[in-house]
Amino acid sequence: MKLAIGNDHTAVEMKNEIKAHLESKGIEVINVGTDVHESFNYPISGYKVAKLVASGEVDGGVLICGTGVGISLAANKVKGIRACVCSEPYSARLSKQHNNTNIIAFGARVVGIEMAKMIVDEWVNAQFEGGRHQGRVDMIMEIQDTQHLKAAEGE
Ligand code: RB5
Repeated sequence: MKLAIGNDHTAVEMKNEIKAHLESKGIEVINVGTDVHESFNYPISGYKVAKLVASGEVDGGVLICGTGVGISLAANKVKGIRACVCSEPYSARLSKQHNNTNIIAFGARVVGIEMAKMIVDEWVNAQFEGGRHQGRVDMIMEIQDTQHLKAAEGE
């Protein structure tokens, strides 16, 4: 498995620890985030990771900023991306199983390093379940592609 990781200035240490944690499990990790503490605009890392994921160059992405919010919002603007911010492992696992997320995000100012490791582990180890969830994910992508949702007509 190959993942991309990105971050802003609030999450340099957490990025390094999560990268090392993933590598210790045999996962290849491409770092496109900042490695210094000078103020850094999180959309840049969100965009870079999202492009790697959307192009298929990596199997998924991990994004970390202060809250995980801004960086996941930026990633979600790239076509094909389903990024979500999670502060606990249950939602992280379900986001893959039900929503087929391809990027997980969290906040370095929100969760501690051990919680962050649990979040990323649950997400990496989960599999999309398909079935009844596939149609709902397809609806999300229909909204992205057409700015319309047929299933909502007449609701
Ligand atoms: C940086 O101060 C902060 O706004 C950023 O890390 C992130 O939390 C944005 O969503």
